[in-house]
Amino acid sequence: MRILVIGSGGREHALVWKLRQSPQVSKIFVAPGNGGTSAEGAENVPVAADDLDGLTALALRENIDLVVPGPELPLTLGIVDKMKAAGIACFGPDAYAAQMEGSKAFAKQVMARAGVPTASCVVCDSVEEARHYVREQGRGLVVKADGLAAGKGVVVARDTAQALAAVDEIMDGRAFGAAGKRVLLEELLEGEEVSLLCFCDGERAIPLPSAQDHKAACNNDEGPNTGGMGAYSPAPVLPDSRLEELADLTIRPVLKTLAEDGHPFVGVLYAGLMMTSEGPRVLEYNTRFGDPECQPLLMRLEGDLAQIMLDCVHGRLDERCLACSSQTALGVVLTAAGYPGSYPRGMSIQGIEKAESLGSVKVFHSGTAFRDGALYSDGGRVLCVTALGADLTSAQQLAYTAMEQIHMPQSHYRTDIGSKGIRRLTAK
Ligand code: AMP
Ligand code: GLY
Repeated sequence: MRILVIGSGGREHALVWKLRQSPQVSKIFVAPGNGGTSAEGAENVPVAADDLDGLTALALRENIDLVVPGPELPLTLGIVDKMKAAGIACFGPDAYAAQMEGSKAFAKQVMARAGVPTASCVVCDSVEEARHYVREQGRGLVVKADGLAAGKGVVVARDTAQALAAVDEIMDGRAFGAAGKRVLLEELLEGEEVSLLCFCDGERAIPLPSAQDHKAACNNDEGPNTGGMGAYSPAPVLPDSRLEELADLTIRPVLKTLAEDGHPFVGVLYAGLMMTSEGPRVLEYNTRFGDPECQPLLMRLEGDLAQIMLDCVHGRLDERCLACSSQTALGVVLTAAGYPGSYPRGMSIQGIEKAESLGSVKVFHSGTAFRDGALYSDGGRVLCVTALGADLTSAQQLAYTAMEQIHMPQSHYRTDIGSKGIRRLTAK
């Protein structure tokens, strides 16, 4: 099988790493890829993840059997529709179903039709309307830009003044471009967040074990929101014993509704959940693997990922293929100092081999590139140091021991990835 992976982050390195373990896979191309994907033996091709024509031409030229888009952008732009028209299997939702991530208003409508529990919300198309609603509510709210905003279009406003400022910033300031033309004003929920990802074949959804992301840049969930600073699986707040219940509550009704619309969902449907005192509520959907959640999840997956993805595309997903290790996996992201603001590039990276020689450790690359055989940073998030352990405490210890082997000037990482889960386990 010849595979084309689209994207250039840690998630895509993990996808390549796992796909190449399949005995069926003979060749992997990555567009555009990173230092890690090339070190895995894949061929990086300089085609951007949003260049749909370029990607289709590449897939046709290289006789690709399966296309695996990593990020959301090609999905919302319609890469699956385009590959399908070219007769090429592509693991993901079509452009219609990808709106579950691409438009928060669309996702809310589907949730309402499907009866999925979520925060109550209003959609506003003008600043006046939004300001009026905020004043009327007179309390904290969550303000969200409707479209894709690279994870940054959400402001959790604790009071009316903050909410008004957020409405102005998103709608007036045009800081979010077209994504901010419409906002959602949502009820502010309290609780612990957790991620539920399911493989979907249009009809069936099979859950992976739970995962927990760490979005804030600094320890204790302080500092600005990022793409994700670390993740682990399973998260004690969502044990395996509850996965089926939550898939029934938050994933399967969506699949049924989208199938009724004539757009069965294929790919990974990811529910970002808030476990509130009144029960689980969906905060958002992603229509792909999360980054960095993908890295620990794929370290636990024992099945043949290429086969699983093909089975999803062909509507014949079999849960027996989705066996996962009972161990805990935990990944810590190393960033360039300054991320998610401006940051330097081109720092040299040492010690990856030493980290991996500890065993049960895999260092996934995000923003890296090789120059004359040496590895340099080439992005905000640079590495995700991921370890498997018998339990959360040992996975955390091993991941941080591995991190200590790695050296990069002007770097930063959180030192408390997994600590929330450990606190929950010890409080029992
Ligand atoms: P989203 O992109 O919708 O997942 O929002 C990004 C982050 O904002 C989430 O991971 C939560 O931390 C926070 N958030 C979103 N919606 C809510 C809500 N209704 N109540 C509280 N926090 C929220
Ligand atoms: N880590 C969150 C995301 O990939 O959207």
